[in-house]
Order: sequence, then C-alpha cells, then structure tokens
Amino acid sequence: MKQPPAQNIADLRAIAKRRLPRALFEYVDRGAEDEVAIDTNRRALEQIKLRPRVLRGVAVRSAQQMLWGEPMALPIAIAPTAVAGMLWHDGDVQSARAAVAAGIPYTLSTFSVTALEKVAEGAPGGRLWFQLYVMNDRDHMRQLVRRAWNAGYEALMVTVDGPVAPKREYNIRNGFNMPITWGPRLMWDFATHPRWLLGVAARYKLTTGIPGMVHHATGPSSVKDPNKSDASLNWDTIRELRALFPGKLLLKGILHPDDARMALDAGVDGIVVSNHGGRSLDASLATIDALPDVLRAVDGRMPVMVDSAFYRGSDIVKALAMGAGAVLVGRAAVWGVAASGQAGVSHAIGILGEEIDRVMAQTGCTRLSELSPHLIWRPRY
Ligand code: LAC
Repeated sequence: MKQPPAQNIADLRAIAKRRLPRALFEYVDRGAEDEVAIDTNRRALEQIKLRPRVLRGVAVRSAQQMLWGEPMALPIAIAPTAVAGMLWHDGDVQSARAAVAAGIPYTLSTFSVTALEKVAEGAPGGRLWFQLYVMNDRDHMRQLVRRAWNAGYEALMVTVDGPVAPKREYNIRNGFNMPITWGPRLMWDFATHPRWLLGVAARYKLTTGIPGMVHHATGPSSVKDPNKSDASLNWDTIRELRALFPGKLLLKGILHPDDARMALDAGVDGIVVSNHGGRSLDASLATIDALPDVLRAVDGRMPVMVDSAFYRGSDIVKALAMGAGAVLVGRAAVWGVAASGQAGVSHAIGILGEEIDRVMAQTGCTRLSELSPHLIWRPRY
C-alpha cells in the first residue's frame, strides 16, 4: 500500500529510521552523554508561547528574508551535517540542490563526503556556505579556506564549540566512527538494512567507491594528528580567518553574550547561536534561552542566527519574533535526504515553509518584519 507523504519532520524522521542502519540513524538523531540537551532545547521552545494578533487582513503573505542585503525565500538555511552524503547516494549535492531550488542557503560540512568544488558545480546559482572545523594542520586549513572562496562560497562558517570530541557513548556501542571503520557490528547493521545497502553503499561501491572524509589532510604532514580538532583554537585564529577569507565570516556555537561581543570585535559578519543540536555539551542551556542576551549584546550590528532542535514552523517563528535573522535546520534536512534524496530535502523545506506561512497568518503577520517580541509570551513563575 502506498504510504501517504510525510506530513511533518517527525514523519520524515520515521522514514529515515526505517531505511538507515542503526549506527547512522543514531549518529544523527542522538545527543551526548545523557542526551539532556536535546530535551532542554525542545522544552524551552515549547514553553515559549505566541500571543497572536487578529483581524489584520493576512490574505497576502511573504516569508522572504534579507540577509546581508540578499534575499532568502524563507528565513531558514541548511545547517552543516557531516553524513548527508552517506544517507543517500550523492546526498551532499542532492541536499545542496534542494536548498538552491528553494532559494535558501546551504552549508556544506568539513566532514562531508563530497569535495566542496563538486558541490558547487552540482548546485550552481545558489548561496553556498562552507563550514570549517579548525584542525591541527593549519596549512591545510588555509588551503581549504582558499578553495572555498575560489569555488564561490559566499560564507565561511567556523564551528567554535568543538575544541574536543563530544562524549557520544552510543557511537562506541554501535561501532561507529568517522571516517567509517568496518567492524563486525557495523557490517551486520549495514547488511540488515538492504534498501540503504543497495541504494547507497552498493551504488557508491560500483561507481566512485565508498567515499571518505574528502576535506581531511592526506599524505605526509609535519603536524601530529593533522585531522584532529585543534583544542588551542582561540580568537587569534578567527582574526586570521577574517583576514584570509574575503567573503562573509560566521561563527557557529556562540551562547554567551560576551563571546558575541568578541565576535563583533573580531570583525565577523554573523553568528549562529547553537549548542550543536544538543550533541556536544550536554549541560548546555537551550539556544532559544541564550538568544535574548546575545541579541542585546549584538544590538543589531550583525545578523544573529540560531539552531538546534527547530522542527516546526512555529519554533522558527518564535526565534524570528525574538529577533533572530534566520534559523538553521540540520536534522530536518538530513531526515529528508535519508528518506528520498533531493526530493526529500525539498519536501522538508516545503513543510517548514508551509508551517511558517500558516503561523504567520495565525499570528496576524504578513511579512517577517511584523514578527516582534510583542508576539512572545513566557510563563511568569
Ligand atoms: C557532529 C560533528 C561532526 O556533530 O559536528 O557530529
């Protein structure tokens, strides 16, 4: 029997769960340690309520947003996610194409399995951003940054909340590593998910080979652990990257207003308030709770974006009403690509766009500029 199409992001997640090997599904879905931060994000979003306005003539609406003087068709961008290309054959390019077709930015991860040039060629005409992890090999980092600029990437998004690897115990239990190392547990997991095995793994094997971490430094390096996160990373490197990259510089993983001020001083063009989808510091506060202080510190001097556990249009509207410039969605797009490639990502974006539009109408807004803190209601304890 033909299944009805996914009605929401949770439906896409359920489809992805059926298709994907458990190790891959859990890698995307789960958090760190006791996985409290994912709940923290969700609960904080759910506690914030919208106080709608009525009788405002909302027949004609637009959710177009401006970012750095250029339009985005929706106030969302695709967040960097490491494994999109392992969830669907050519998943990185397919995801980027869906974003470009929808008129929203796409962020390619350092840990993608597709070279940044190939994604730029495969998804022309859109706004592409490259997410950078600063690893120990700094020469390699500089090369990657130059390559991203030469390939036409509009923005470099430096992830700043990963000085060390997070503690993700399920990955160890699942025998899952990045890059993938083949052990009996993982082989069994892969073998028992035939749709993924045939549609993704076998297709890669028969064409380009199973892809690896294409943005890692290869060959001899004078640096110890060249592809390991550099825990000595500090603002000096941000200033160096500012001088090196002529495009827009974004920092992702800011939660403290003082860091937001320091980002302004370092000359960045925007920040993403993020706790890494609840996947890094498990004791982190919710991003929606971090947002007001960060917005006050920035005081309109650069766009402030936010991510982590935004699954409904209403979640996104809440962040925008509080003053965020856009919301990054990671898992929502990943579930889409895992469910059906480019069409699945388009479907995910379509669901979110439709939900944003409906909530705008329900709260009496015809344009995003009408979303304001007056719409936000928080319980008083
Ligand atoms: C993660 C890293 C790759 O969250 O950003 O898994």
